[in-house]
Formats: sequence, C-alpha cells, structure tokens
Amino acid sequence: MPLVLAIETSCDETSVAILENGTILSNIVLSQVQIHQRFGGVVPEIAARHHLKNLPIIYDQAVEEARVNVNELDAVAVTVGPGLIGALLVGLSFAKGLAVSLSKPLVGVNHLLGHVHAAHLAFEQLKPPYVALLVSGGHTELLVFEKSSLEPKVLGKTLDDAAGEAFDKVARLLKIGYPGGPAIERISKDANPDRYRFPRAMTEAKNFDFSFSGLKTSVLYLMQKERIVDIADLAASFQEAVVDILVEKTIRALQRTEIRKLVVTGGVASNSRLREKLTQKAQEIGFELYIPPKNLCTDNAAMIAKAATEMLNKGIFSSLSANADPALSF
Ligand code: KG4
Ligand code: ZN
Repeated sequence: MPLVLAIETSCDETSVAILENGTILSNIVLSQVQIHQRFGGVVPEIAARHHLKNLPIIYDQAVEEARVNVNELDAVAVTVGPGLIGALLVGLSFAKGLAVSLSKPLVGVNHLLGHVHAAHLAFEQLKPPYVALLVSGGHTELLVFEKSSLEPKVLGKTLDDAAGEAFDKVARLLKIGYPGGPAIERISKDANPDRYRFPRAMTEAKNFDFSFSGLKTSVLYLMQKERIVDIADLAASFQEAVVDILVEKTIRALQRTEIRKLVVTGGVASNSRLREKLTQKAQEIGFELYIPPKNLCTDNAAMIAKAATEMLNKGIFSSLSANADPALSF
C-alpha cells in the first residue's frame, strides 16, 4: 500500500496530510475561521490568499511530523473540486509543482469522495455496500456505494441550501456567530427543541431530495412576527427540524436499498444531536452506523489522501494538465 501526500484547500482550511498504508502519519489543518468570522462567511479571495501564504508552511510541518523522505512518496494527491475556484487552484498548482519536482504521479480527488473516505480512515473494517449521508457547508447528498468506495450512485441531494449552509444562515439571523453549526449546537444544549415547531420539508415526498431554504425563511418570519423570541429555544427548534429531516430521509434510504450500513460524514456530521438521534435509530432499527470522529468530519487532507490511496490501488492517476472544477459532482 502506498505512501501518499495530500493537499486540501477547497474552502477555508489549509491542510496537508501524509498517509502510509492508509494510516495517518500526519494531518495538519489550519483553519481560517477567525479570519472570515467578521465577514459572517468565507470570502473567496481572502481564502485563496491565505492558502497561498500558509500552504508551504503547512507542507513543511506535515513532512516533518510524518518523518518521511518525500522522495519515497508514491503520489501527490490534491482536491480538484468542488470548492472555491481560487482556493482550489492554489492547492492544485502547489501539488503539480511538487509532483513535477519529485517526479511523482498526481492524483486529483473529488472532495466529496474525500469526505466519504474519512469513514474508511476511522473504520478499517468498513466495506461497501453502504449508504452515505454527506452533510457539509456546500453539500447534502444521499449516496449509495454498492461495490466500490469510489463509485457512488446519487439517491438524492438538496434542491437549494445545504444543511451546513442553513446552520450558517440561521446563526447569522440569530447573530450568534460563524460558523453557524457549532454556534447553534452550543446555544441549543440546554434549550427546549419543542418550543417552536418548524416544517419538516420534503419528508412527505417519496424521493430522497432535501430542501432547507424554507426552514431558514420560517425562522426569519417567526423572528419578525414575534417581538420577543427565546434565541436558545429557537436555535434548538431549528436544529431539531434539520436533524429530523436528515434522519427521516436517511432511514428511508436504508429501507429502500435494504442496505444495513450507514456512513455519515461532512462538517454537519459532527453535530451531537444528529449523532445522538442516528445512534438511537441504529439501535432501534438495527443497522451499522459509521460516523468518523469530529476532526475527520470537517475538512482535512487525510480524507483526501485516503481516497487517493484507493484510487492508486485501482491505477487511477491524473494528468499534469488536470484542472480544478468548482462544481465537480458525481
Ligand atoms: O465539511 P465542512 O468542514 O466544509 C465543507 O466542505 O463545506 O463543513 C462545514 C459546515 C459548516 O456549514 C458548519 O456550520 C457545519 O459544517 N458544521 C456543523 C457543526 N460543525 C460544523 N453543523 C452543525 N453542527 C455542528 N456541530
Ligand atoms: Zn468539505
């Protein structure tokens, strides 16, 4: 099994990881959250500039911590999309430069496949078939991996906002900070999730698509209608609605596919209420639940290196003319 270095710069985390035989030797993640906080969201241009400045430093740290000789690498992997184009291009250019100077092959990785491989990093025994719920700031997808961890079939996706995006937008409405997910989770902790009743959109529909923009609008209307709202109860009620929608659709996907293994990954998978409800369902209904630890759910290069390891094992490489694709999908 190969020695792989991977670079991840698709959004606001600059990350470099080195994996040997699928084991993490180093996984350095530098978050730009504090830089973007005052803008209430990621500013693409600023993200790209910071990647450019920090990537060489993070690379040195990752190599030093892994204690490897980079001449022994089997490949240089990099996220090629989806993500912010400027941010992606910084990582891709760096990866190409490294691949050329070390005479190593380049492996361009789909960020979404990376998120799914976070589960393979955390659970060595995990094998397809499984259903995967991928919930991040940019994506909300229900996927089925029947035979290979590299070939998903899309069961459903969000028609508008992603789950993480809804958390971020509602947190902005409530003025409780950025990123919204952790802020909403924190404030909801001892609050009443039944105080305000929000619609569970699309749960009646037979398909596996999601919609979260109406929920965000419901929060806004409620705040406009009621002069005084309890912010903590409102956050908890919103979180409960998102979790209910995700759980309901996912359980239905397991029933429809008759698959008894579920992977949940992406930034929103670090939400404690979602983890709690899914764990409860797994016991009730009887399926295997694979949710990576929180630091592997959010963006990191180790998950990209793991996906690249699988690609290398199947002889999949990229050419040096590979381009970044901000809208890459399955
Ligand atoms: O996977 P990720 O780090 O980056 C993307 O690829 O988008 O996900 C970031 C998203 C943000 O929208 C953030 O608010 C959300 O994940 N998030 C959470 C939690 N932690 C991060 N959402 C709900 N609860 C959390 N604890
Ligand atoms: Zn991500």
